[in-house]
Amino acid sequence: MKLFIDSADVNEIREAQSLGILSGVTTNPTLVAKTGRSFVELLKEILEITEGPVSAEVLSTDADGMVKEAEPLAALSDRVTIKIPMTWEGLKAVHRLAQKGIPTNVTLVFSANQALMAARAGATFVSPFVGRLDDISHDGTQLIQQVAHIFSLHGIDTEIIAASIRHPVHVIQAAESGAHIATLPFKVIKQMVNHPLTDKGVERFLADWENAKREAAKV
Ligand code: E4P
Repeated sequence: MKLFIDSADVNEIREAQSLGILSGVTTNPTLVAKTGRSFVELLKEILEITEGPVSAEVLSTDADGMVKEAEPLAALSDRVTIKIPMTWEGLKAVHRLAQKGIPTNVTLVFSANQALMAARAGATFVSPFVGRLDDISHDGTQLIQQVAHIFSLHGIDTEIIAASIRHPVHVIQAAESGAHIATLPFKVIKQMVNHPLTDKGVERFLADWENAKREAAKV
């Protein structure tokens, strides 16, 4: 399973990129709004930091508007993936963008049927939202399993991005369930790296090293 970062904060993206773990970036209007920056300028900077696909979401709710918004964004780089909400109009836009060879990421997917429709419309990626389903007492991980099973059974090559990831256990569950990608908040990336026994172990090795040096100096 590949790892994307779900962030519009260039400092976070740069830091995660420096670990060498990133295969791409997803943004959304909430994350972009938090930066207070111009979307296009921000997108250009993210494209400079990373080498993989960068999802940029449209705000229009009609297919014509979505395609119109998508075109100048896609012109920035062939790595810009247009993020389209999973709606009736969204599917029309995905279909039209696919015909133009523009990659799409269908977002706000909450059912296997939505994922199937998005894939058949020509989506490059579908993003089932694990955490938001869990929040309403549904099983987000089960949705990933279902979509992965259906896609593999029917030879669908649309990639599944496990989105709305809230904690490291979600990441393991997404990987075990057959997601191709998990898009992770920076906080979750940090949690995945850290382990208290690792910190304790490093402390202990350093202390033993210093003790051994002190003992050696005595003789
Ligand atoms: C995915 O592409 C979305 O940006 C994201 O994962 C949404 O997550 P949230 O439910 O934490 O807002």
